Amino acid sequence: MNGGVLTEGSVQEISATVTGLLADAQLPAALIDELQQQFGIKVVPQVAGWHLAWQDQQLVLRHTELSKQGDILVDFASGAATYRRKFGGGKSEAIAKAVGLTKKAGLSVIDATAGLGRDALVLASLGASVTLVERNPLVAALLWDGLRRARLDPELQDWLPARLQLVFSQAITALQSLPAPDVVYLDPMFPAREKSAAVKKEMRAFHDVVGADPDADALWQAAYALANKRVVVKRPGYAEFLAGQKPSMSIEGKNNRFDVYVKAAL
Ligand SMILES: C[S@@+](CC[C@H](N)C(=O)[O-])C[C@H]1O[C@@H](n2cnc3c(N)ncnc32)[C@H](O)[C@@H]1O
Repeated sequence: MNGGVLTEGSVQEISATVTGLLADAQLPAALIDELQQQFGIKVVPQVAGWHLAWQDQQLVLRHTELSKQGDILVDFASGAATYRRKFGGGKSEAIAKAVGLTKKAGLSVIDATAGLGRDALVLASLGASVTLVERNPLVAALLWDGLRRARLDPELQDWLPARLQLVFSQAITALQSLPAPDVVYLDPMFPAREKSAAVKKEMRAFHDVVGADPDADALWQAAYALANKRVVVKRPGYAEFLAGQKPSMSIEGKNNRFDVYVKAAL
């Protein structure tokens, strides 16, 4: 039982600045095995800098010099996620319009830059079936653990796990072998100017752990080749078009712009 993770092709090495999973007497043996087998993450007796840790039955990304309040995890049942799911505007959210969920529920989407799965959660809660592709082993492990806990959550277990599938892979490789979805969704890293404390905390972590996405232009090409209906790219409002490609339309969100590349009607 691998928790539903597919691994496609080769994945990037764990960045040299990132350690593995900090040894902890409370760590379940089955979890250690899964993380080693699925993501190549090893238990280490000591860490410096970013690492995975086991806290309150959850896998978290932590920095040795930051307080535990700064822990980063995937929590599909968090207060913020639940609020956004229930009161966040639903189909009037810019992302829902961009992906096309206002016109058709139940679309299939490949989220080729899954990150912490926040956008995927919004799409899944509006009815999409989402394949989450993530190449960074630590981030993929956080997603895997978020899905594990979603399967135990009474509010989520009946619908969310069925709509989210995790693929641990470089997306350009995955997009050559996965079945063509209605929509490919991209949100590559971009140097941001945004400043809220929560965003800053995560941005620092992603900057250190994930780094830049220098292959994002090539990812656009692979996404456009595979999608049946459209490709959607999330960008900061001030950013240039990904791969220099002019979209069919752009939809402005509260903090971002969604560039939509239409290939066929939904
Ligand atoms: C800005 S974050 C995405 C955040 C996400 N939309 C969310 O809602 O949480 C970008 C993520 O995409 C991943 N990524 C970027 N390029 C990728 C690629 N070619 N293949 C797989 N993952 C990729 C990075 O490792 C990072 O975790």
